[in-house]
Amino acid sequence: MKSPEFLQIHRVDDAVLAHEAAEGLRATRAHVSPKFFYDALGSRLFDAITELPEYYPTRTEAAILSQNGAAIADAVLSATGPAPTMVDLGAGSCAKAARLFGALAPRRYVAVDISVDYLRQALTTLQREHPAMSLVGVGLDFSTRLELPAALIDGPSLVFYPGSSIGNFAHDEALRLLREARTTAAGGALLIGVDLVKPVAVLEAAYDDELGVTAAFNLNLLSHVNRLLGTNFHVRDWRHVAFFDVTASRIEMHLEARRTLTVKWPGGERSFRAGDRIHTENSAKWQPDDFEVLLRQAGFAGVRRWTDAQGWFAVFLATG
Ligand code: AVJ
Repeated sequence: MKSPEFLQIHRVDDAVLAHEAAEGLRATRAHVSPKFFYDALGSRLFDAITELPEYYPTRTEAAILSQNGAAIADAVLSATGPAPTMVDLGAGSCAKAARLFGALAPRRYVAVDISVDYLRQALTTLQREHPAMSLVGVGLDFSTRLELPAALIDGPSLVFYPGSSIGNFAHDEALRLLREARTTAAGGALLIGVDLVKPVAVLEAAYDDELGVTAAFNLNLLSHVNRLLGTNFHVRDWRHVAFFDVTASRIEMHLEARRTLTVKWPGGERSFRAGDRIHTENSAKWQPDDFEVLLRQAGFAGVRRWTDAQGWFAVFLATG
């Protein structure tokens, strides 16, 4: 049996993260990046979100992948050739990728996540089920730049980016990441999950659920920033706000001050009046044809897509 390999490309330094959070809090329009959602509790709250009746993306994507598994695998393998290397962006538990192993039979699986430590348990367990597969865990913040050691990619590969996390990026950054994914695929393919425009009530319920799990997920960012930066946020002073901006075609999440207050941290402070907001997330929703245009702008020549019956979510395969 092989053993998984692990490498951390550049460590995400807490001091750098604290500095980034402080810059956002000082900005004219206060903002904190969605990457600050994912401390240990935030990651569990996100997992809980994916189980909510209102949060359709995870289960809709899973249904598209399972119902079209054979056709998707055929299309992937005709782009990559047999036994490809599979690169999983934001792999986490590696569960979504592992569901494709039967149909794709990858020779090597490269799981990429912000911290290599998130990947150790999952890859160690996966190796027992796939003793001959080469498993590599890479710690890398690909939201800044996706570049893997050349030795990991030895031929046309499959880059897998599920979950519609591409929706967190502004247009130009999304285009940059898609271009880097194309380079990483080295003539192979990109398989990517994309959330689509749909009735506003459906979108807004998915980001403001009845149980308040998404509210807790958003508010937990304040506790995470308290630990990283030493701010004195009181979670009870803030409320969760989520709405669909039709013009920008995105869900926006904000934290809104319930009263006038001042947030302090070592080296800075910021006053908020009741109703002032901190912008915490954008989650873009596409028209399918618009996402196809973006893939072609990124340099992909072949584009196929699969959707659910309601047209709520799409899985795109981009090649060339
Ligand atoms: C992980 C970025 C895909 O935008 O739907 C879920 C994060 N935010 N509920 C999304 C999220 C609020 C999620 N992504």
